Amino acid sequence: MPRSKIAGIGMYVPKNIFTNNDLTKYMETSDAWIQERTGIKERRYADRTEETTTTMGVEAATIAIERAGITAQDVDFIIFATLSPDYYFPGCGVLLQRAMKMKEIGALDIRNQCSGFVYAISVADQFIKTGMYKNILVVGSEKHSFGLDFSTRGRNVSVIFGDGAGAVILQPTENTNQGILSTHLHSDGEAAEILAMYNPGTHANHWANKNYATFPEAEIGEMFMSHEMIDNAENFPYMDGPSVFKKAIVKFPEVIMEALQTNGLQTSDINMLIPHQANLRISQFVQQKLGLSDNQVHNNIQKYGNTTAASVPIALCEAWEEGKIKEGDLVCLAAFGSGFTWASALLKW
Ligand code: COA
Repeated sequence: MPRSKIAGIGMYVPKNIFTNNDLTKYMETSDAWIQERTGIKERRYADRTEETTTTMGVEAATIAIERAGITAQDVDFIIFATLSPDYYFPGCGVLLQRAMKMKEIGALDIRNQCSGFVYAISVADQFIKTGMYKNILVVGSEKHSFGLDFSTRGRNVSVIFGDGAGAVILQPTENTNQGILSTHLHSDGEAAEILAMYNPGTHANHWANKNYATFPEAEIGEMFMSHEMIDNAENFPYMDGPSVFKKAIVKFPEVIMEALQTNGLQTSDINMLIPHQANLRISQFVQQKLGLSDNQVHNNIQKYGNTTAASVPIALCEAWEEGKIKEGDLVCLAAFGSGFTWASALLKW
């Protein structure tokens, strides 16, 4: 059975830089608070009208395709991970297929938030190993800036997130010293609501206590998104930050160790850990817990904030472009996020 290798990688971040000080114009916060709690100094925000989650994905994909030495016509499957799609439906995969004039290939959208890219890599890996596809484009892209609460009410969430995209081309390889060794996927929906965007959605929480006499005549037009929901900020992401932090620092090391143990390897064998850029404090905690040195971990949340599904491919691409990842290196990708879901992938570059 062949393994899957990353044959090309690309990233794209918007030009528009928003510093912590820029945010103080909209909400009560400070550069010192944000840096101390998250490590973030600045993030990028997409152009409001010109750039979407799909267009940023196309930019990253174009570079990945070129670096893989193929054309968009050679791609035989698309997997697109995002929580901020252009449309509620259809997903971004088909929009990218159209924009890049690809063949009538399959396009799958993945909604696993911060672990979306690692989940997507795992799915792509299975298709490559079974021989079903030869050139899979995996994209993680987010335009968070369109849907954050930039008032003081939403500051615990809005200061963290940024926009951007990353992409890889996965191909089969018969080289036993290269490619994905294993992937590991997990979830625990017990705390699904502590990092979530509730609306628009079909859950009953909002409607359960309304006791409407008639359905659906009452409040037609408000069934999906009511004024009350907007007044309550239910159309913005909600996060219980401290609870997320506590779970993340347990599950990150656990899923990394699971990947290493599956392959009979140790933390000292890791050449580069690419943790999802949730919060610099989380990455530092994980690094310390696993006893990794600074040159075994790549962080760039300082410049881009948390770009959710895009954060792992952006950090991976940047580390590779900076020459921190070389052929034969053992690379570990690890992510944790809303759901909760968490995942890892271990690969030989
Ligand atoms: N600027 C200034 N003050 C802020 C603020 C901001 N941007 N956001 C929140 N605060 C305030 C709160 O209102 C609160 O004030 P109070 O004590 O007067 O009530 C205080 O800071 C502490 O809030 P808390 O939420 O307990 O802060 P924290 O120390 O837990 O840090 C996070 C908040 C979000 C930085 C932290 O919980 C975190 O990083 N969690 C993980 C989040 C994460 O990784 N999410 C992505 C998952 S993939």
